[in-house]
Amino acid sequence: MESKTPRFYELSISSRLEQLAREADLPLEDLLPLGGKPILTTETADHMIENAVGVYGMPLGIARNFLINGREVLVPMAIEEPSVVAGASFMAKLARAGGGFVATTTAPEMIGQLQLLDIADPAAAKASVLAHKQELLELAGKEHPTLSRFGGGPRDIEMREIHTSPIGPFLVMHLVYDVRDAMGANAINTALEVLAPRVAQISGGRVHLRILSNLADKRLARAECTIPLAVLGFGEYTPEAVRDGIIEAWAFAAADPYRAATHNKGIMNGVDAVILATGNDWRAVEAGAHAYAARDGRYTSLTTWGVTADGSLKGSLEMPMAVGIVGGATRSNPAAAAAIKLLKVASAAELAQVIASVGLAQNLAALRALATEGIQRGHMGLQARQVALAAGAAGDEVDRLAQQLVKENNIRSDRAVQILLEWRK
Ligand code: MEV
Repeated sequence: MESKTPRFYELSISSRLEQLAREADLPLEDLLPLGGKPILTTETADHMIENAVGVYGMPLGIARNFLINGREVLVPMAIEEPSVVAGASFMAKLARAGGGFVATTTAPEMIGQLQLLDIADPAAAKASVLAHKQELLELAGKEHPTLSRFGGGPRDIEMREIHTSPIGPFLVMHLVYDVRDAMGANAINTALEVLAPRVAQISGGRVHLRILSNLADKRLARAECTIPLAVLGFGEYTPEAVRDGIIEAWAFAAADPYRAATHNKGIMNGVDAVILATGNDWRAVEAGAHAYAARDGRYTSLTTWGVTADGSLKGSLEMPMAVGIVGGATRSNPAAAAAIKLLKVASAAELAQVIASVGLAQNLAALRALATEGIQRGHMGLQARQVALAAGAAGDEVDRLAQQLVKENNIRSDRAVQILLEWRK
């Protein structure tokens, strides 16, 4: 009989890790933290936050098939929702037929804000701060010599006027800061605190808030992919019907904030999972994503989908991506450090490119399902497994119970418990 090489998902968890190590050409020890050995300890957690009582578990899976800027990438994703890892992997396979993902980033420039109040003459204060730009940039740069050594550092000072607010008009100073491979919050916030007294002096006003902006619209990540018609059709759906259905689905999100919120949530399923796996701050990226989606005054889709001259489906995603590969939990959490090793990203920019590609793939997975058979069918098997697990199924029972629930078209925990009790009688 012919023996078939088992696919990744058919392997045991330990064999999956061994295969990952082989594929990534890394020592198995480097990847063991992905399997929880060692895991983030309670002792480390105690240094990370206050009142720690333990650590919190979350499934960690690997999205496969990603070809990004010509490089094979194995993508670690921490997520509790079924279908996300499978959806990303499947869409990466479709994108690969069109050459994979092409991703870029702008410079890793973050924005820090100073709120300037009690300004008598806003025009004069603005001019005065801008006249001292060089001095202020030098002052800000002194605080973080390491970043400057790596080619980062303060880049620019911008002045903005807020004309109407509940407390009346006021000024805002932006410090634009290249944070290289860091997420950058600490560098920015420290620099702002250093600048504040001098800016107060120069402007003649009072500096109130000193904090980074999560609308990191100078630190953008972009990804695009082209899906040839040939790989779009399936079942009863013609390739053209799938392609056009995806574009119609996107148009809904482009025009309607109610749909755009859900559409973008699907993108963030992919984005957040990689951010979480790599120890980055997903709340920061979430905040930036949604603020960016509303940048023109109306909340809209973060992606666009259209047709190329040869009839292929083409998609792109652009969003702020404030992520780092140094500092914070990227180092203190062993799983995050292993995730970064597996990704083989040499810079924060490269990590941002991977994340944008995964976000785009995830959006495609959702739109393809929604535009064809609907989201529930693909979800059913996986949802049934979760319900089976929650009902207390163990070992072989999990798959058997999941199959039974799908067969009965009744994926409910009360029914799952009932079946388990009957089996165990
Ligand atoms: C579910 O987590 C995500 C989707 O709702 C995204 C979408 O509707 O585009 C399926």
